[in-house]
Amino acid sequence: MTRVFERLAEWRTARAELDTRGLRVGFVPTMGALHAGHRALLEQAKRENDRVVLSIFVNPTQFNDPDDLARYPRPVAADLALADGLADDVLLPPAEEIYPDDYRYRVTEYTLSTRWEGAHRPGHFEGVLTVVLKLLNAVRPHRAYFGEKDWQQLELIRGMAGALLLPVEIVGCATVRDVDGLALSSRNVRLSPTARKRAAAFPRILAGSPDPATAVARLKAEGFEVDYVDDHAGIRLGAVRIDGVRLIDNIQLARDPLNPRAAAAGLPSPS
Ligand code: PAF
Repeated sequence: MTRVFERLAEWRTARAELDTRGLRVGFVPTMGALHAGHRALLEQAKRENDRVVLSIFVNPTQFNDPDDLARYPRPVAADLALADGLADDVLLPPAEEIYPDDYRYRVTEYTLSTRWEGAHRPGHFEGVLTVVLKLLNAVRPHRAYFGEKDWQQLELIRGMAGALLLPVEIVGCATVRDVDGLALSSRNVRLSPTARKRAAAFPRILAGSPDPATAVARLKAEGFEVDYVDDHAGIRLGAVRIDGVRLIDNIQLARDPLNPRAAAAGLPSPS
């Protein structure tokens, strides 16, 4: 039976008891609107730990666009149903318990966080790193699980854990995709049926283009607004908008020149 905690003080008592029992804790931090990608994180956490903790907290400090924050889906009952049987403990902390300081104290990274998502979403990673540090301090997990779809976020969290000597293993989990290749994201529910269909071209074009400039041209021709496409460390990163919904993705650039990118990305081959 999943236990739900809305107060950190109650959670801390329960957490101390897990220590007494010598249990290994896996942690999946989320902003809710859970989908099969989150389920995969929970399943991996369950396989690798004695106890799985899920947090659902729509973190206001990582939204640079107030409209995006206001429209962020919050289906708590459906989230708890999805977590049932996978998460042992669910934290639903109120904002004032996460930010008793009114966000006066922050974690800032000055290099990787300034590119790609950071360049297009000022303050975003400061909000992410700050809340993740707070959640890790509250949960004290042995392992914490994050999706590779948010590659830059994962790299920054890993970097923070190393830089601040956090006693936690950061685990990256493969992106889960719909049958047409679109990466699962909580924002996908905001796509109209037509936009959802067209959105599948995003990963296909990312994976099937010989270089970022060609990918940008092809995406624009398909009606996407493009924030960026860039190749970095064997990965192609991209962010686009379609019908006002922002999507990000990344694929691994494969070494096989005959089947360059789709195979590595686990995407359907372009027809
Ligand atoms: O990836 C997310 O859902 C969020 O950025 C995270 C890591 C839960 C921090 O709010």
